[in-house]
Amino acid sequence: MNVLIVVVTLFVLTAFAAQSGYEGNKVYRLKPTGKKQLEMLANLRNEKNLDFWTPLRRDEHPVDVMVNFKEEKWLTDLLKKNNITYDTLIDDVDSAVLEEHERQIFFPPTKQGRISFIKYHRHEEINAYLSRLAKDYPNLVSIQNIGKSYEGRDLDVIQISTNSSAGKPVIFIDAGIHAREWIAPAVALYAINQLVENKDNANLLEKVDWNILPVLNPDGYEYTHSTLLQRFWRKTRSQGNKCIGADANRNFDFHWAEIGSSSDECDDTYHGKHAFSEIEAIALSNYISQNKNRIKLYLTLHSFGQLILYPWGYTSELPRDNEELLSLGEAVAESIKNVSGTNYIVGSSTNILYAAAGGSDDWAKGVAGVELSYTIELPGGGLLGFDLPTWKILGVAKETWEGLKTFCKHISEKFN
Ligand SMILES: *[C@@H]1O[C@H](CO)[C@@H](O)[C@H](O)[C@H]1NC(C)=O
Ligand SMILES: *[C@@H]1O[C@H](CO)[C@@H](O)[C@H](O)[C@H]1NC(C)=O
Ligand SMILES: *[C@@H]1O[C@H](CO)[C@@H](O)[C@H](O)[C@H]1NC(C)=O
Ligand SMILES: [Zn+2]
Repeated sequence: MNVLIVVVTLFVLTAFAAQSGYEGNKVYRLKPTGKKQLEMLANLRNEKNLDFWTPLRRDEHPVDVMVNFKEEKWLTDLLKKNNITYDTLIDDVDSAVLEEHERQIFFPPTKQGRISFIKYHRHEEINAYLSRLAKDYPNLVSIQNIGKSYEGRDLDVIQISTNSSAGKPVIFIDAGIHAREWIAPAVALYAINQLVENKDNANLLEKVDWNILPVLNPDGYEYTHSTLLQRFWRKTRSQGNKCIGADANRNFDFHWAEIGSSSDECDDTYHGKHAFSEIEAIALSNYISQNKNRIKLYLTLHSFGQLILYPWGYTSELPRDNEELLSLGEAVAESIKNVSGTNYIVGSSTNILYAAAGGSDDWAKGVAGVELSYTIELPGGGLLGFDLPTWKILGVAKETWEGLKTFCKHISEKFN
């Protein structure tokens, strides 16, 4: 009997492994020191066989990189040759994915139109929640469809406003432009939940409106959920010649393709055939353009790295209003730290990380003129980093929410 169970289990595990893109993959935590080692790694960022799970920082912070088993020796030889020390963080990515999947399916389906913060929701559940809020709170909530994804999923923006004809300043938030960063949509959902369903937060709606798009890249997001062994998909799902998808956060039409992206469509950081080749990036940019006079804060949620970043991503030059961007970012970081001790680093993208052009935050500021524009890299956690264990979702959502309140305070004061 026991033998049978073992055999069946092995069979199931083998069946999973057999379909896997991650079989034998490992994740290393690299610990570069000195400019030379950092530059060497910066040049590897768009390397096909390496997947940088955390952005490479300039301050010698460790960086987590997934490597295909076929390239493992190549990588370790290279690291040794360059004297870069490293640890093995995940020895077998496949079984880590499987474990995470088991935790995820452990929770029963949520009732139509409801959400929780004990699991990661599917795109349909998220949009059903938005619709339910619009129905239950008609004086507060409306849904604007801003287009469809490549595969035809609705890009729905929830507009939360106590008086939509008053023309109040707007805080716009999106999440999930990178498919695998599951905590980002969850945090956006928590903000929606707090703004609409928690009356104690009514003051946050007095002077501003909130418009939130919780999943900007729903095709990719669904792909990481439904295709068990594509958990680390990052791009959209548009059809290319050889490979699928582009990195929508390298696809915006501002210094597009100048630096920090790839022209190989099979790479994770592929910037697309041309600027705005991706329909999701077009939909977002149209929406922001149409509302650019009212949007006073643009916020895009990513994971992971505990970073609050602002433009520019394409150059190390600082924006004119660096002082305001920095001090607001630091105030937000402080209010997050106050909740739970979580530390964020704050600064302009290119000064914290290595330059990468074509991001939505650069475009929002540089083209649409939304001066206060930020990317938040939320915390990682658990073995996989991209997926905090489900029991940690609420903690991250709550601490980030305190940061959002600080943003709101600044916008409310500055624009009234
Ligand atoms: C690595 O370290 C060794 C011994 O300290 C040194 O001889 C070598 O030049 C270093 N290599 C690089 C690429 O820095
Ligand atoms: C909504 O805003 C408009 C325009 O400012 C104003 O005339 C109206 O009185 C407001 N409605 C409410 C209910 O506050
Ligand atoms: C930190 O928390 C304390 C008490 O909870 C509060 O009085 C203080 O204003 C908070 N500081 C920030 C920056 O949020
Ligand atoms: Zn991201």
